[in-house]
Amino acid sequence: MGTFPPLRVLAFETAVPPFDPPSDELIHLRTSRFLKALERLEAAASVQALRAGVAALRERIDRRSPALLNGHVPGDSVAVTVAFLNQAFSQVVAAQTLERAKYYLDRFAKSVTTPKHNAVSDINLNRWKEYDDILTDSLWVVERRDKSGAHSAQYWGNFIPQIPSQMMRRFTKPGEWVLDAFAGSGTTLIEGRRLGRNVVGIELQPEVADRTHELLAAEPNPHHTVTQILAGDSADVDYEAILAAHGQTSVQLVMLHPPYFDIIKFSDDPRDLSNARSVNEFLVMMGNVIDNVAPLLDAGRYLVLVIGDKYAGGRWIPLGFQTMNEVEQRGFLLKSIIVKNFEQTAAKRSHKELWRYRALAGGFYIFKHEYIFVFKKKS
Ligand SMILES: C[S@@+](CC[C@H](N)C(=O)[O-])C[C@H]1O[C@@H](n2cnc3c(N)ncnc32)[C@H](O)[C@@H]1O
Repeated sequence: MGTFPPLRVLAFETAVPPFDPPSDELIHLRTSRFLKALERLEAAASVQALRAGVAALRERIDRRSPALLNGHVPGDSVAVTVAFLNQAFSQVVAAQTLERAKYYLDRFAKSVTTPKHNAVSDINLNRWKEYDDILTDSLWVVERRDKSGAHSAQYWGNFIPQIPSQMMRRFTKPGEWVLDAFAGSGTTLIEGRRLGRNVVGIELQPEVADRTHELLAAEPNPHHTVTQILAGDSADVDYEAILAAHGQTSVQLVMLHPPYFDIIKFSDDPRDLSNARSVNEFLVMMGNVIDNVAPLLDAGRYLVLVIGDKYAGGRWIPLGFQTMNEVEQRGFLLKSIIVKNFEQTAAKRSHKELWRYRALAGGFYIFKHEYIFVFKKKS
């Protein structure tokens, strides 16, 4: 038998019970029997009787009553986390009136049986408390890069896997299509495989695209999704033809992680955005990419731009906001600006002291953040 944190018996508590540490461990409930048990609780004649009933039910779950936890019965099984059960039970027990407690019980039953989704993701809003790992704050301080599987931090300038993962989970459903116009080392594609999203990635440098293709072969594909990386200029490739080859006419999410102008020079190719001769030229090139990808995105769906600012000539260049404007001007609604801590590159780390000295002497601040701009395509 596996173990899961015990559900505490709360029968005679009257104050709000302390919140159990969230656990995403899954319990497979036999839906019909569990709902019957909730129905019986609803028939309670007093708050005390109801609380005692809740305690008894929790105790049955705790000792894994086979009648309630009957594995995976086809059509009669629902997987819930321990955290979700604890929360829902605690809310019922904390209610001060019978009417309120019954209202919570009713909601509890609905949340077990009726999924509620918005139009762009499969997050079950009736059980939103189970999604602890989905970020909703506009400040992200991510301490550790996910280096599992095919992910590697070797490609200079790749983003942390958490970025495409969070975005795909918030803004796509399983089986939907994502376009990454600056695919690099394939971080979005690897995450797409893990999450069951199809991803087409475009990368200018053929040798980088080839290496990413090889890397992808080492990543398991449990959902059998399409993850294709192609070499090409994102401002110019024929996305329609690429998608048509997969029987698709549109995508449901666009990821844009362009070079941050010339901060990292990726190649000598003049079509490479890191070779733009000025900020203005960079913005024009970026505009061309957006013009090429935007028609592919379904209305009401999301485009995510990841970019940072830069210094030049003793001046802070707000490249992020300037690029943000390029997207907004093309019929997109700005939904969020996320500020994310910036991982120091190994090169920068070794010059830490020097950068600090320069900052103090020159009256500037050392970059520690980048932006994730989230846009919605207007209908
Ligand atoms: C910031 S990196 C993206 C890294 C990627 N997110 C990853 O995790 O590996 C930008 C990438 O855009 C590519 N690139 C530059 N100009 C391009 C263009 N016009 N079309 C397609 N890719 C381009 C660069 O070669 C580089 O690999």
